[in-house]
Amino acid sequence: MRITMIGTGYVGLVSGACLADFGHDVTCVDKDARKIELIHGGTMPIWEPGLEGLVKSNETRGRLKFTIDLAEGVADAEAVFIAVGTPARRGDGHADLSFVFAAVKELAKALKGPAVIVTKSTVPVGTGDEIARILAEEGAPEGTSVASNPEFLREGAAIADFKHPDRIVVGAEDERARQVLAEIYRPLFLNKAPLLFVERRTAELTKYAANAFLAMKISFINEIADLCEAVGADVQDVARGIGLDNRIGPKFLHAGPGYGGSCFPKDTLALLKTAEKAGVPQRIVSTVVEVNDARKAAMADRVRDAVGGSLTGKRIGLLGLTFKPNTDDMRDSPSIPLAQALMAGGAVVAAFDPVGREQAEPLLPGVEFAGNAYEAATGADALVIVTEWDEFRALDLGRLAMVMNGTALVDLRNIYDRVTVERAGLSYRGVGRGAG
Ligand code: UDX
Repeated sequence: MRITMIGTGYVGLVSGACLADFGHDVTCVDKDARKIELIHGGTMPIWEPGLEGLVKSNETRGRLKFTIDLAEGVADAEAVFIAVGTPARRGDGHADLSFVFAAVKELAKALKGPAVIVTKSTVPVGTGDEIARILAEEGAPEGTSVASNPEFLREGAAIADFKHPDRIVVGAEDERARQVLAEIYRPLFLNKAPLLFVERRTAELTKYAANAFLAMKISFINEIADLCEAVGADVQDVARGIGLDNRIGPKFLHAGPGYGGSCFPKDTLALLKTAEKAGVPQRIVSTVVEVNDARKAAMADRVRDAVGGSLTGKRIGLLGLTFKPNTDDMRDSPSIPLAQALMAGGAVVAAFDPVGREQAEPLLPGVEFAGNAYEAATGADALVIVTEWDEFRALDLGRLAMVMNGTALVDLRNIYDRVTVERAGLSYRGVGRGAG
């Protein structure tokens, strides 16, 4: 199958490389010449485990090509995936579709024959209809159709998620589009990944509903964590106790500093906008957004309490800045409001992140960047685990106690247990764990 992927961001590059790995003939298009040059040279524009090797091996085998020329890239394609960014529009939270529509206009003129145009970008309900309208208006070849195939890739595990999905959702209105998508995903289908054919609008909404539900699970357990602290219960055990119920499931029940990233914050807001427009308020999702914003803003208070009630003149070490481990992505990371509030309260902040420094530095003016965890801890009154990178899971606690000025370990990801930490001479404050 000849496939073109427009956009080499997270979703486009991972999906393009994985589809090439299935044996399809994939051309990735991006307007950003520097990015394409970098990828050609073997440097990935994002940090994602396994991606570099996958891109290289498929490029070498001639199945994966890169170009900045959209017209050339789509001319002979049987399927064109649109995987350009849909950021939250500044000011109103609506998904910004200008990149999507610009790509559609351009490709409509460049197609030599009918193709299936597939949106992978997360787009509001009804976007497929608008794309179909633009294609017709711009004179796309007769028989060109539009499908929706939302992605459910987690950063840091995107390749595994693509190759072993829980399900593939395809929204299509005609038989040919269904056949083309079935052919594209045949390798996964053979592995028994459920392929769900639904209406296009249903597929578009499914993506938002999935992310909103997961965001809700996180906000739910975060509020339960606060209650655990107040009543002397342990949120880890509560999460396990409810998660073993098959109706609930154990995933996305880790209490922490609030969700961040490129999807949950943006997609929940966009869903609320769609709901507002449709006149069907989504009160649960709206509360989830509020709860999460308030939670991120409240994390600095925990640190302030751990250092005795005032941040003035205190030195705070932060471990992990990216919104989750195994990515260099800083978008909407809880570390940003945390570091800002600590500095606003009068503290000096030193931080270490295994891969996120380059992305983090411009976002966190005033923060000192350390070369490793122990350097970030040196002289600190409190050390805060913000992101649960594996390398923070087995720190030498004795060494930390020695280099720190104070004793507070604030573990916002619950990766340590109190007894071990206290044995090393540090004090411990987790999230939702009994009295601390
Ligand atoms: C998410 C979705 O999981 C994926 O399907 C989608 O389409 C893109 O958005 P991603 O943003 O990469 O993926 O990360 P995810 O692992 O879902 O985590 C999102 C945020 O929630 C992170 O900040 C993470 O730390 C937080 N989180 C996640 C929790 O606080 N607790 C949890 O139990 C799980």
